[in-house]
Amino acid sequence: NKKILVTAGPTREPIDPVRFISNRSSGKMGFAIAKAAKNYGAVVDLISGPVNIPAIPQVNIIDVETSLQMHESINILLKKNEYDYIFMVAAVSDYHIKNKKNKKIKGSHKSLNLELYKNPDILKEISVKSKAKLIGFALETHNGEKEALKKLKKKNLDYIVLNYANEDGAGFEVNTNHVFLYSKNGDKIEFPLDRKDRIAKL
Ligand code: CTP
Repeated sequence: NKKILVTAGPTREPIDPVRFISNRSSGKMGFAIAKAAKNYGAVVDLISGPVNIPAIPQVNIIDVETSLQMHESINILLKKNEYDYIFMVAAVSDYHIKNKKNKKIKGSHKSLNLELYKNPDILKEISVKSKAKLIGFALETHNGEKEALKKLKKKNLDYIVLNYANEDGAGFEVNTNHVFLYSKNGDKIEFPLDRKDRIAKL
C-alpha cells in the first residue's frame, strides 16, 4: 500500500522536427523497479522517456519526451499525491537546444552551432516539494563513489545508487547491472553483477 513514483529511460531534446539529442538509457532499470514495487503491493506511477519496453499491467505509465515535459509531469503528480518513495532512475538530459528549428535543417551548411541551455535539476527540486524518501541514480565513468556522494548531498537524497557506464554488463542498455547503494547515514551496500529485475527486487 505504499505510493511510489518512478522515472525511467532517457529524455530527448529536439533539434528540428526530425532530429534530437539523447542518451543510451534503455529504461530497463526503472521499469524493473516499477514492476518490483507493484508486485510488492505498491501503487506505482511511472514517468517514462521514449523506451522500447512493454507497459506494466496495473502501473500508471505517463509517457514524456523532453526533460521539461518530465519536469512538468512530476510537478503535476506531486501536487496531487503524497508519495512514500520516489526513485529518480531516468537519465535526464542536462541541457536543451536554445533555438529549436521548426523546419528541417538542410545538409548544405558547412558548419552548424547548437547552443544548449541548462535544464532544471528535477531531483534537487523534489526534496523541497515532497516528504517522500528520495532515491537518485548516478551513472559515472570515473571517481564513482566521490561523485555519487556529492550528488547524494547536493540533491538532499536519502539514497543514491551508483553504477558505471564503462563497466561490461553494467549501466545503460544491458539487462544486467552492478550497483552500489549509499545512504545519507553513511551506509554502503554493493549488489554484485546480476539481472536488473533481480536487483530491483532487493
Ligand atoms: N537528474 C534530474 N534532473 C536533471 C539531471 C539529473 O532529476 N536535470 C537526476 C537523475 O535522474 C539522477 C540524478 O539526478 O537520479 C543524477 O543524475 P546525473 O545526470 O548523474 O546528475 P547531474 O547532477 O546532472 O551530474 P553530472 O554533472 O554528473 O551530469
